[in-house]
Amino acid sequence: MRFELKKWEMSFANSLAESANDVRIVSWLNEGFPNPYTLQDAEWFIGNVLSDGKAYHRAIVSDKKVIGGISAACKRGAMRFCAELGYWLAPDFWNKGLMTTAVGLFCEEMFSSSDVNRIQAEVFVPNVASCRVLEKCGFQKEGVLRQSVFKNGQFYDAAVYGLLASERGEI
Ligand SMILES: CC(C)(COP(=O)(O)OP(=O)(O)OC[C@H]1O[C@@H](n2cnc3c(N)ncnc32)[C@H](O)[C@@H]1OP(=O)(O)O)[C@@H](O)C(=O)NCCC(=O)NCCS
Repeated sequence: MRFELKKWEMSFANSLAESANDVRIVSWLNEGFPNPYTLQDAEWFIGNVLSDGKAYHRAIVSDKKVIGGISAACKRGAMRFCAELGYWLAPDFWNKGLMTTAVGLFCEEMFSSSDVNRIQAEVFVPNVASCRVLEKCGFQKEGVLRQSVFKNGQFYDAAVYGLLASERGEI
């Protein structure tokens, strides 16, 4: 399936609100991703992205519509060369290999256009699809944060995945 990683623009707000408004997306996300997801949420998010000079944000666009998003933000101080990655995709497009391709392209672009040394992600362990995406992109599972997540009245583990700039060629 063909898609592009594009810089966000306000004209994406309608299709963002449409694609993001699905409760399945938030099942294993931390709080912060709205559900229901309204046009106002979409406009607020894109407005923030446009005024954020620091983080990397890309819309996943297919057939001129936003079908997902991917972002990475550098930590601060001594951890400033380490970026935290997050991503989501509209459920109609799951399990077609799309996010694996998107994360691979995104990380390559970030490594080659910045001085970031490490990209990492924390994944709630029941989110098997997301763990697979990172593994297929060459991330190493580096550890487990036991019972660090409280979701739907239960504790879950989170796994930490990391990819170093020096490991890029191994993808
Ligand atoms: C996680 C997410 C981005 C995956 O996107 P995707 O485009 O479907 O991922 P891909 O198709 O590239 O890869 C998914 C892999 O997980 C596997 N998978 C999916 N569901 C699975 C399950 N329940 N059990 C085992 N494997 C599963 C797929 O088979 C595939 O692996 P394979 O290629 O080895 O067969 C998507 O499900 C999503 O947006 N989820 C909601 C938001 C989210 O959780 N974001 C990540 C937060 S850390």
